Amino acid sequence: MELKPPIVIASGIGGMGEYLKLIEPKFIGAYTLKTITFKPKKGNPPPRLIATENYLINSIGLENPGVENFIEQLKLGQYDELFERVKIIFSFAGDNFEEYEQVAEKMAPFQNKFIAFECNLSCPNVHFNPLSDLTTLKKLLSSLRRKLDIFLIAKLGIEGAFVENIAKLVELCGWDGVTLINTIRALHIDGERFIKGGISGPILKPIALRAVHEVRSKTKLYIIASGGIASEKDAEDFFKVGANAVSIGTILYKDPSIVERIAKNFS
Ligand SMILES: Cc1cc2nc3c(=O)[nH]c(=O)nc-3n(C[C@H](O)[C@H](O)[C@H](O)COP(=O)(O)O)c2cc1C
Repeated sequence: MELKPPIVIASGIGGMGEYLKLIEPKFIGAYTLKTITFKPKKGNPPPRLIATENYLINSIGLENPGVENFIEQLKLGQYDELFERVKIIFSFAGDNFEEYEQVAEKMAPFQNKFIAFECNLSCPNVHFNPLSDLTTLKKLLSSLRRKLDIFLIAKLGIEGAFVENIAKLVELCGWDGVTLINTIRALHIDGERFIKGGISGPILKPIALRAVHEVRSKTKLYIIASGGIASEKDAEDFFKVGANAVSIGTILYKDPSIVERIAKNFS
């Protein structure tokens, strides 16, 4: 996969293409849709977003219409204009290993519309953590590889085994790339209330840098770096440790023009 420019819009924050109203497609290498799961998900109850200067904690909980509804919309041509304007990455997940396979099976006939499929294995806002059982994970990775011919990316986090060991497994199973990292489990205290969510934004940068560095030294996988990228310097640092592309997430809420600025530096 070659992305020109090497800039990806992160899953979740970019919704289903909404930021194309604010960013010219020529500055976007690929646009990741929000994660689609097997069953529809209402997501978590509010509060869903806690914003501070250095980080955001979100507890969206993968709200989405489910794969069958998504396919209906695909068939109705809902996303045709989007496909014409920019390369799209399909992001998917499930509540258990079987559901990942079911989404892949349902989406296989439509895979040629997308530049890649990103398998979200690391959402911190749901109860299932596929990265904590590497034996079953390996079976899942092999099975998904057999079901899909497309460029396959595993979105990994740091909560499971060491990320480089999981990435080696991803490579062994014939996958093409990884996105590093996802948000990490965090807690916000509001008076007597404990609010759980996934943390993102600038605070993630050193953690994501380490993950990219470790995975680059152990694998030849295509790496999309994700975590706190909010300036040209951040992007440069991630390319320095071996990222092939950078993903722009939380900063989009504050300043979507960063995409254009990074694109102009790294085209
Ligand atoms: C509000 C919100 C929703 C998100 N939803 C998803 C999602 O649906 N799927 C996914 O793989 N990652 C999701 N993420 C994680 C981002 O794609 C990204 O990996 C993470 O926020 C780290 O990058 P950042 O610090 O640049 O935001 C979400 C993040 C936020 C803040």
